[in-house]
Amino acid sequence: MTKPIIRIENLSVGYTKPLLEKINFVIQPGEIVAIIGISGLGKTTLLRTIAGLIPKLSGKIFADIRPRGGIGYIPQRLGLVRHASVYHNVELGARCGVKVRDDSGNIFNWSKRKAVVVRNSVEEVGLADKIDEPIRRLSGGQQRRVATARAMAQNPELILADEFLSELDKENADAIIALVKTYVSNNQCGMLLVEHHSERAKQIADRIIDLSDFETKSIEEE
Ligand SMILES: Nc1ncnc2c1ncn2[C@@H]1O[C@H](COP(=O)(O)OP(=O)(O)OP(=O)(O)O)[C@@H](O)[C@H]1O
Ligand SMILES: [Mg+2]
Repeated sequence: MTKPIIRIENLSVGYTKPLLEKINFVIQPGEIVAIIGISGLGKTTLLRTIAGLIPKLSGKIFADIRPRGGIGYIPQRLGLVRHASVYHNVELGARCGVKVRDDSGNIFNWSKRKAVVVRNSVEEVGLADKIDEPIRRLSGGQQRRVATARAMAQNPELILADEFLSELDKENADAIIALVKTYVSNNQCGMLLVEHHSERAKQIADRIIDLSDFETKSIEEE
């Protein structure tokens, strides 16, 4: 059996009192899992806890990922630097994703490689023509695509995505879904996403966890 990317055991999350309790699931390499549930339930809180941004209340999180840059987080409120360009925002991800040395220990030309990773990631989300624009001049959906490019430039082992398709029309959402699915499969990383629309959740995920009824449901794999 392959080693899971992440294993969550009896996890309880919240701020002062628990919002979600006794959560259990694993994510295997190459697997995309979607969390659905009503507003205010604690979905963002769960992602923030797994990302290590807030402390867990109890339970265990086992993660087989590198400590620096191993988690690519696409937050619900994006967290982009608004006055900086698309390039510079995506570069923030690439900084912790580009290897400094090759497998024999030789030093790479890091800044050159980093620039290539940034340009490729921006192109993949369809924003090559906006690369030098400041974030504040982009639409909501374009900003979401920048946050997606930033996470992928990080070469993550686990992607956490919070409503990352909202504000995208069907055509753009389909393109980003295809991109992310290919990325996860090629890199054998894991992905945990929160998605309001259950149809979209089914379109992107291998498995759905509905937090509203605390039951883990599986959907047929293709
Ligand atoms: N920093 C915070 N401190 C205290 N309570 C918070 C904080 N952030 C969120 N909460 C509360 O925790 C609850 C869950 O919030 P959370 O953002 O995790 O919900 P959610 O399931 O992601 O909702 P939505 O679908 O609307 O994004 C809410 O009642 C919210 O008011
Ligand atoms: Mg949320």
